Amino acid sequence: MLPQKRGRIPSRIAVNCYGTVLAVCLLFLPTAFPLQQDQPRVLLVSFDGFRWDYIYRVSTPNFHYAMKNGVHVKQVTNVFITKTYPNHYTMVTGLYAESHGIVANEMYDPILNETFSMNKMEIYNSKFWEEASPIWVTNQMEGHKSGAAMWPGTDVKIHGVLPTYYMPYNESVSFEDRVARLIDWFTSEEPINFGLLYWEQPDEMGHILGPENPLMGPIISDIDKKLGYLMSELKKAKLWDVINVIITSDHGMSQSSSERLIELDQYVDRELYNVIDYSPAVAILPKEGKLDEVYEALANAHPNMTVYKKEQIPNRLHYKHNSKIQPILALADKGWEIVHNKSDHFLLGNHGYDNILPEMHPIFLAFGPAFRRNATKEAMNATDLYPLLCHLLGINPLPNNGSFNDVKDILAEVVPRQPYPEARETESYAYFIGISLGSILVLFFLFVFVKHLTCSQINTMHVQHTEIAQPLLQD
Ligand SMILES: *[C@@H]1O[C@H](CO)[C@@H](O)[C@H](O)[C@H]1NC(C)=O
Ligand SMILES: *[C@@H]1O[C@H](CO)[C@@H](O)[C@H](O)[C@H]1NC(C)=O
Ligand SMILES: *[C@@H]1O[C@H](CO)[C@@H](O)[C@H](O)[C@H]1NC(C)=O
Ligand SMILES: *[C@@H]1O[C@H](CO)[C@@H](O)[C@H](O)[C@H]1NC(C)=O
Ligand SMILES: *[C@@H]1O[C@H](CO)[C@@H](O)[C@H](O)[C@H]1NC(C)=O
Ligand SMILES: *[C@@H]1O[C@H](CO)[C@@H](O)[C@H](O)[C@H]1NC(C)=O
Ligand SMILES: *[C@@H]1O[C@H](CO)[C@@H](O)[C@H](O)[C@H]1NC(C)=O
Ligand SMILES: [Zn+2]
Repeated sequence: MLPQKRGRIPSRIAVNCYGTVLAVCLLFLPTAFPLQQDQPRVLLVSFDGFRWDYIYRVSTPNFHYAMKNGVHVKQVTNVFITKTYPNHYTMVTGLYAESHGIVANEMYDPILNETFSMNKMEIYNSKFWEEASPIWVTNQMEGHKSGAAMWPGTDVKIHGVLPTYYMPYNESVSFEDRVARLIDWFTSEEPINFGLLYWEQPDEMGHILGPENPLMGPIISDIDKKLGYLMSELKKAKLWDVINVIITSDHGMSQSSSERLIELDQYVDRELYNVIDYSPAVAILPKEGKLDEVYEALANAHPNMTVYKKEQIPNRLHYKHNSKIQPILALADKGWEIVHNKSDHFLLGNHGYDNILPEMHPIFLAFGPAFRRNATKEAMNATDLYPLLCHLLGINPLPNNGSFNDVKDILAEVVPRQPYPEARETESYAYFIGISLGSILVLFFLFVFVKHLTCSQINTMHVQHTEIAQPLLQD
């Protein structure tokens, strides 16, 4: 799978080599320079609505296999509101929703007087996406290729750019077909370095059944089988040893009940406002001149509903500074639903609640050559995924709300890079050993080459990367 760049050492040099030196060259070079020969490859996978603790519900051997081979982060604080579109865009921008502009699944932009709707799949208005620039756009600007299988927003032209390869959104396309496309793109003549894979479950069934329903067991088992399928396909395609895979989700799920409904009609006339986005974080747009009336009617209406005027939304939610955030936000407590009246349809499972709640948190696993093995980390912020991805891909992150420093400990070794001057001073002992051994190896090669191969023009042998020391650290 590493075709074009393997041949960095022109064969004509080999012809000129003495037997023993040739043997030494061939023995050591492939292990000493693997990162030069290979562009790093990353696959980001989202199983929508996969709550962090689903892996403890039923037997999930494939998730546990991935954990043994990689890193498991137990608590990932995603962003408010804990809904699908805002969080998927955070993963690929590192920004809070107020900064990337996808503030909800259902939006109204009062400046454009235009709407955005996940429910109606009216999501193709580029203007809604262009407050930020997602990672695939940056990846391509830096000369790489990206491939996306149904990841939210990847079939929308953003700043005039689509992923190099993508699938137009179609819920009916099977998981297996999505995986097949990604494998094709990763192994093609001009391979992608970055892939995105999205799957709608277990979110859909979580909404219908409620997460506490025992029938969720088989749904979770099925996702585990899908992960197993993905891993076996990566092995078949000989990608397993070279690709870095992150398995995560946008949010969790909590159980609702007909016993926990908050009926807006009991407190305020429906004619006074429009609902832009739905329970449990209801975006309310009061009719002209009715802001105070609606707010006052709802403010202390129900003990399990907190109502904010936009400017009162707590800073910790990072959900205020955007024109698409509506003048009033009514937020239900965990497990409560806000409806007009009891005739309204509500879901037995829902998300969108405060991102401080563990029930809203997603799964997070990472495995591949860049990651530690059989390691756990207690907590991270979802905004940190973006700088991590940029680091893995070797591209420059745009300004974002994440911190590479907060997640670099999940990597197999600490690599100093220019854009991160805050890097810790006390690198690990093993790292220095690695650097030293690596340097000795490099000096040895330089010596050998200068001594024996002056007859050849060795113009491709740049020693560019300090990462050449890395293989010595592995295991
Ligand atoms: C906003 O757009 C709607 C149609 O989508 C139109 O009826 C309405 O007049 C527009 N409002 C303003 C203020 O332009
Ligand atoms: C969506 O995918 C299904 C299954 O592959 C296919 O039958 C259907 O034609 C596709 N729909 C569209 C609009 O492409
Ligand atoms: C609902 O409100 C009551 C009264 O304030 C409170 O005791 C209870 O903890 C709330 N429920 C949740 C899930 O926050
Ligand atoms: C709920 O509101 C709808 C629409 O106004 C009305 O038709 C229905 O009767 C109401 N249901 C109850 C239980 O009040
Ligand atoms: C993984 O880590 C756990 C806990 O640190 C340890 O008990 C187990 O032996 C390790 N397994 C492997 C395969 O290294
Ligand atoms: C998450 O981000 C906040 C705000 O930047 C920071 O204080 C906190 O330490 C971060 N949490 C983790 C686990 O890195
Ligand atoms: C998040 O990052 C954006 C882009 O750098 C910045 O404009 C915004 O102020 C940041 N938000 C916070 C809360 O720091
Ligand atoms: Zn979702």
